[in-house]
Amino acid sequence: MTTPEAREEAVLEAVRERRERVNGAIPEELPIKRPERLYEASRYLLDAGGKRLRPTVLLATAEALADVDPLGTDYRQFPTLEGDEIDVMNAAISVEVIQSFTLIHDDIMDDDDLRRGVPAVHKEYDLETAILAGDTLYSKAFEIMLESGADADRMVDALDVLATTCTKICEGQSLDVTFEERDGVTPEEYLEMVEQKTAVLYAASACLPAILMGANDETVEALYGYGLDIGRAFQIQDDVLDLTVPSEKLGKQRGSDLVENKQTLITVHAREQGLDIVDLVDTNDVDAVTEAEIDDALAELEAVGSIDYANDKARELVEQGKDRLEVLPDNEARELLCQLADYLIERGY
Ligand code: IPE
Ligand code: IPE
Ligand code: MG
Ligand code: MG
Ligand code: MG
Repeated sequence: MTTPEAREEAVLEAVRERRERVNGAIPEELPIKRPERLYEASRYLLDAGGKRLRPTVLLATAEALADVDPLGTDYRQFPTLEGDEIDVMNAAISVEVIQSFTLIHDDIMDDDDLRRGVPAVHKEYDLETAILAGDTLYSKAFEIMLESGADADRMVDALDVLATTCTKICEGQSLDVTFEERDGVTPEEYLEMVEQKTAVLYAASACLPAILMGANDETVEALYGYGLDIGRAFQIQDDVLDLTVPSEKLGKQRGSDLVENKQTLITVHAREQGLDIVDLVDTNDVDAVTEAEIDDALAELEAVGSIDYANDKARELVEQGKDRLEVLPDNEARELLCQLADYLIERGY
């Protein structure tokens, strides 16, 4: 019998192994060249760490589709379903580079100074450099994807997914920011917003290997749906962690969402229960909010059942996502994709 602890250790080990491969490939795909300051700023967050969950989803999906021994195959010469080879590591780096671009710009928008345990790029460098570093990573992601060696038709489809993903992230981030000023956001509106700002990148990560490797439409669509489900669940958990985990462990500032008046499934539910969410903290400076204030706000949110409500919704989405994996061959990598889905909502940071 495997215990929950043993299961978590196994999934963490699987993520760690893939993260190390991804980390090794980042300097190859994104070397520092002139102007050094721009490329150093572009690499700064990538080198600071990060969980690499999206590239892990992408690599595990490729492994499941190819039905190969997990980690036993060279990601740089990866078998497609038609017997040719692609560089699936390039696709994995591409989605992590997009993740990095969105984080740099997100911290500017959210007025956050801490990311991955280090100063945000606009703090370590300056606003101009941070905007440019984000823009550079945005376009580099497409260049890197183009080098994955897939044939022209599949590459066009992959670039289409990447482009629409970026557009949707911007749409979602726009909704996220406008919701700060709005009263009465509904759970449905929240779920639409997080689908766009967060879940589409998980969806792209899951379906891109299928596109590049020549899988059928049904498989591509099921994997896209898996990513949308687990990605929405992931963002719900991110919102919970913002309230519950100390900044040192989280690597970003605890309570930032309350200070910025972000609408989350938690606050949306709490308002529906009659809680005055606007007054949960009374500062709009993340450096001024105290641990005691966040603890009190959390206690109030717990008391009206909003944390449980968010956790339940995240669990429901994860179960729905896992069901979609039936399209994949039954192998170790498919099992890992199920475990990853659970991990996204069970993680503590
Ligand atoms: C943070 O994502 C951005 C969100 C969509 C909530 P992660 O929590 O995956 O951040 P890193 O990549 O591990 O730093
Ligand atoms: C970010 O959501 C989504 C992105 C597209 C980056 P958050 O604003 O909640 O992410 P964190 O908490 O700052 O990582
Ligand atoms: Mg943020
Ligand atoms: Mg944000
Ligand atoms: Mg957050």
